[in-house]
Formats: sequence, C-alpha cells, structure tokens
Amino acid sequence: MKLSQLFLLSSILVSVTNLARAEEATWKDTSLSPEARAKALVKAMTQDEKLQLVHSLYAVLNGPKKFPVPKGALGSAAYVPGIKRLGIPAQQITDAGLGVTNPGGDLRPGDAATSLPSGQILSGTFDPKLAYEAGKVTGAEAFHKGFNVLLGGGAVLVRDPRNGRNFEYLGEDPILAGNVAAQQIKGVQSQHVVSTVKHYAFNNIETNRLKLDMKVGEKEGRESDLLAFETVIKKGNPGSIMCAYNKVNGDYACENSYLLQLPKKEWGYQGYVMTDWGAGHSTVKAANAGLDQESAADQFDKKIYFGKDLKEAIAKGEVPQSRLDDMAYRVLYGLIQVGAYDHPATKSEQPENVATHEAISQKVAENGIVLLQNKQNILPLATTVKNIAIIGGHANEGVLSGGGSSQVTARGGNIKLKTGMQTWPGPESYFPSSPMKAIQALAPEAKVQFAGGDNIQQAVDLAKNSDVVIIFATKWSAEAFDNADLSLPDNQNQLIEAVAKAGKPVVVVLETGNPVEMPWLNNVDAVVEAWFPGTSGGTAIANVLFGKVNPSGRLTTTWPKSLSQVPYPTIKGAGRIINADPGQPMENDSSVISSLSLDIDKANVGYRWYQDKKITPLYPFGYGLSYTTFKYTKITLNNNLSGKNPTMTAEVTVENTGKKDGADAVQVYGTMPDGTTSRLLGFDKVALKAGETKTVSIPLALQAIANYEPKAHHWELPAGAYTIAVKPDALSSEGVKTTVHINKMNLAD
Ligand code: BGC
Repeated sequence: MKLSQLFLLSSILVSVTNLARAEEATWKDTSLSPEARAKALVKAMTQDEKLQLVHSLYAVLNGPKKFPVPKGALGSAAYVPGIKRLGIPAQQITDAGLGVTNPGGDLRPGDAATSLPSGQILSGTFDPKLAYEAGKVTGAEAFHKGFNVLLGGGAVLVRDPRNGRNFEYLGEDPILAGNVAAQQIKGVQSQHVVSTVKHYAFNNIETNRLKLDMKVGEKEGRESDLLAFETVIKKGNPGSIMCAYNKVNGDYACENSYLLQLPKKEWGYQGYVMTDWGAGHSTVKAANAGLDQESAADQFDKKIYFGKDLKEAIAKGEVPQSRLDDMAYRVLYGLIQVGAYDHPATKSEQPENVATHEAISQKVAENGIVLLQNKQNILPLATTVKNIAIIGGHANEGVLSGGGSSQVTARGGNIKLKTGMQTWPGPESYFPSSPMKAIQALAPEAKVQFAGGDNIQQAVDLAKNSDVVIIFATKWSAEAFDNADLSLPDNQNQLIEAVAKAGKPVVVVLETGNPVEMPWLNNVDAVVEAWFPGTSGGTAIANVLFGKVNPSGRLTTTWPKSLSQVPYPTIKGAGRIINADPGQPMENDSSVISSLSLDIDKANVGYRWYQDKKITPLYPFGYGLSYTTFKYTKITLNNNLSGKNPTMTAEVTVENTGKKDGADAVQVYGTMPDGTTSRLLGFDKVALKAGETKTVSIPLALQAIANYEPKAHHWELPAGAYTIAVKPDALSSEGVKTTVHINKMNLAD
C-alpha cells in the first residue's frame, strides 16, 4: 500500500471513530430529548440488535412449561437482554397491576411487596394526587427489586359488573379512569420504571378472552374506552401500551391497525406497544399494523414472530426496514423517557421503605372504601363498645385479594384457601392484615369474638351475646373468568339474614371484586364496601368502622339492582375459565360468547346507560356516604373557548355542613345541548373541617361533552346551551348548576 493510500485509510478510520464518538455523545447526552437520543441509538444498532429489542422471553421461575429462566433475568413475567456496548439496559419486566407481583411465588419470599387496594378503591378516592403517590410506591418497589418495566396501569372501562378483572381497572367513566391511571403511571415512572397501560382495547370481559370479538363503532369506541386510553396516554405518557387478547371488529387487538395506529398517529404517542402474553398472532400483519414488541414470545405465542421470521420478512420486503427501526426507536424512547436508560435498576440490598409504602396503601384504602348504608348513624362505632361479634370472611386472619397475574404476595405470606380453585388464577388468597386484630386494637377494652360463619347457628348465638355484629362477606374474582352472577357465594346470604334476626345492630363489610346483590339490605344497619383493600386493608377497615378516618370513597361503577338492568344481561359461559390461558389448547365451544356488540349502549357506559334508559340502579356512580354532610353553594366557570385549545374550569364552593371533619369527592358533570346523558367532566378530593367552606378549581374535560365525528376525524362541540353541574353523584338531582352557551367548535386532537 502506498503511503498516500495509508494516509487516506487512517483518516477515514479517524473520521469513522469520531463520528461514532459524536453519535455516542448524542445518545448519552441527557440534555438532548429522548427522541434525539433514541434515534442516535437506532442508527448505531445492527439489525440483530434491533431484532433483540422487539421480543421478550418468558422468565418466570416456575412457569407452566418449566423453561429455564434466561441468563441475566431476575425471574419475572419477561426479559429482554441488554446491549452492553450501547449502554442499553436489559428489560426486566414484571407484573404490577396493584403492586409488584412475586413471580417466584413461594420460592422467593424476599419478593414480597406492598399491594395497593383494588382499582375500585384507587379510582374511588377521586384523588389524583393520591393515585400519583400510589404509583410511586409500586415504581419504587419495582426499582428496588431491579425491575425497569411494569405491566400495570389498567384503563379498561368497567362495562359489566361480572368482569373478573374489574378489580384491576378504574371504573366505568373515561375521564375518571383516564386521569387516575395517568397519575398512577406518572408516579411509577418517576422512579425510572416504565409503566404499561393495558389492555388496549375493549378487554371488557374475560370469558373466552382469547377468541372473543368485540364489535364497536368508531364513534362509540372513541367516546368510551378509547377516550379513557386517549386521556391516560396523553396525560400520563406511559412508556408502553399492552395490546389485549381479544379481537376488535374482527382483527386481534395486537394486529389491528386501527387500534395500533391511533395513539401513534393521532395522540402523539412515541412509546411502544407490546403484546399481552400470548396475544401475538403474526409477523407481517402485526408488524405492519404497528405492533412494536412481542411478549414472552418463546412460550406463549405459537412461535417467535418478531425474531427470525421478522428478519426474513424484512429481507423479502414484506415489512419495511423503517418499521423495525421504528419499533426499536419506540422501545428505546420508552426506556430513555422515564430515565431507565440513565438510571439502570439493579436489585438493591438496602432495606425497602416498607412502613411508608404500607402507610400509603392504607391511606388509599381509607380514602376509597365506600360507606353504602348507615341507618341511624350506627357508624362510627364507639371505642367503648363492650362486646363485638365478628363473623365470616376470614376476618380473624386477613383481607381478600384478587387473583391472576396481578396477585401480589404480601410480606408475611398470603393465606391461601385450601378450598375452591387451586390452580392459576387461584387459590383464593388473603393478605395477612386482620380486620379483627385492628378492631381489637381500636377497642382494647372490648371482648372481640369471632365465628367463621360456616355454622350459622354458632354465628347467631355469638351475635345474640354481643352489642354489635360485624359480618364480613366476601366474593373473590380473578383474571381469566367472569363472575357467573351477582350473588354472594356459599351460605353468606343466609348467614347475614339469620344474624340480622338476632336483634343486634349489624354492620356488613363487603370484600368483593364487583357489586353484589344484597337481598338482606333492609335488614342490616350499615354496609361498607371494602372491595379488595390491599396489604394494609384490615387496619383501614377498622379505622373506617370506628371513625378514625371519615369515609370519603365513592363508587366508580354503578351498582345495579340486578343483572336485568345491565346492557348485556347474559354472558354465555360467564363463570367458566374458557379459552383464557394461551398455554392451553383452545376449545371450540358454541355455548360460549364469541362476539359482543358494544354499540348496544351507544357509548353510554355505566351511569349514562341508566340515564339513557331511565333505569334506577341501586347506587349510582359517584355515590358514597360520609360521617358528615356537604353542601354545594356555588359553581362558576372560567372559560377560554377561543383558539385551538379551548379550556373550561369550574370554581366550586363546597361546605362541610356537619359536625365532623371529612373529605368530599367533588364531581362536576356536563350535559350537552340536546339534553342527553350527563357526563363527568372533572373531579377532585377536598378535605374540609367541620363547618369549613372552600372554593376549589376543577379543570373540565371538554371531550366528554363533545361528539366524535368519524367522517371528519375530529371532536365537535355542537352549538347550544350546556349545563354544568356539581352534584353528589352522577344521577343526583341535588347540587348547583350553571349554563354556558357555546358556538359550534372543533377540538384539536
Ligand atoms: C395478563 C396480563 C399480564 C400478563 C403477564 C396476562 O395473562 O392478561 O395482564 O400482564 O399475563 O403476566
């Protein structure tokens, strides 16, 4: 080689190295945007490195097919190896609907975690700040355990009171669910952990979930479940979205181009979409539709679609190279955006901040548990009460939790029932936070006695010898199946009826995943719905019963009188686990629901259905009692209705008219000019001392009173007079209202 050639070669090498350094400087430069950094990384990646990022491997310790946990994985729902030369951390992915789950089960008690109360409670607080704190707890525990991707942030709307996973979701209203999920996700992500909003979309029932086709019109979809997702995605900016098992309008959610394009094209979403476990069905169709990552592909899908097959499809031109680059970009964007790239999570040996975390879980429960009935103000109980009978619900030991992939193992271990479903999603498990022990602690002088409830006569005898009876009634629900009906299982209704006849004051505490029928309602004094109240649930329940906290939780699902009131009274196959586990062979069973038209309610989900059909439910959305009383005295609006981003804010004056300090869930509803159903536009939780008055400012979501126009692809506020009201619940005629005239206008997307 001539000297001049050598010189040329070395200067080329120098420039290539300099270029590489400059690029490296780009993706490492924290002052640059996540977009710029992720783009620079993708540029530096080889094809195989990109392919490595777009599918995860199953990593559970004792998974169904007993695959070995991949090297480097912590042992959890899934794992993607990192790329060391580029500083890309491994993705350690774990479930976390309500808290970090313990994928090792009993094998690794060190994985125990704080479980937040169920979604009904979190949304029932109507408190976005608390939702943020709650998310922070889960994020901090995940980071501490070395996880950087959480499979949590459930934003599916509750459309039916039997859905087995309603306890993972945030109620029936898109504005409430979307805003609460957004805050929860922001809390998680503040800890450098990606949060995954799920299950996108219309995963509203569990029966036959792997085959079910949800039919929904564009307008109806955009104004209901998709509005919840739009709100959470725009406001919470989750690193990832999990597409659902079910089909939507004929196409599986994870290869449905309408669904997959919507966040990216219309909501400015830069993160990635991953499949649910076993929800991947194709390479070319899914990739071109907009799927970005195939989850636990090795074990749950028929084959790894986003590995070798994707490489070949790109080589053949069936999937453009730009699509793979975009997939890798989106995964990296998600990681960089939350700080998971710059602050890699590693398993910490330091003690966790357990006391603070459990206290936040307890606070959420205390703010979200709902007081449904309180005749003659029997509650709060006096701490001087002498004899307390506690009956049923394993209340001597703990509180019920929901089953399935969101099941957390509490510190101290879960109490697992030996009866009922023993295989996944069971067994029915209780967190070791005993309401009975907490009650005894609050009434130290009282004789507190327990009867299990199986023997009704024994329970009645105990009741007769007490001053007050607290009956705990439970109904478990779990992923993979829906409740067959709304009845309390076993002998619980007979037990309550019999005990109520003992002539003593009776308080029923419900621990359920859904509303239940209460044939004994008129015969008992008080009813408290404690849902699944989390790992500090027992203390929270006792504090509510004795008035240490004043209940302020509200229902976020309308409580029907019976199933004849709901839009789909019959769900064929409800109560059975059928085609729910992708690891099992699929069944062809025509006696099971195979498709459901959601348009039956015309996007009038939940309380709006009851308004539209003029049906009176047992309790409406937003309902819940307190030990004090509140009065709304004024509502005024601050409007800025010109320009591209019109805003409307309500100033609401609320007074605590009772004798006890308390907190009110202030709910502002709007009705469109055509006078159709009223919709929740904004909310907040306000603490008020006895006699205190406050004025609070509540931003209102105009989309909730706009029409989505599918042909024009925009949201439109029709011209006319809108009623804006603050009221105690969605269907109440109390409260105060005002009117605003709006000229026809479109909302910018
Ligand atoms: C559930 C998801 C969960 C995943 C991983 C699936 O069965 O539907 O919610 O995140 O499993 O465990």
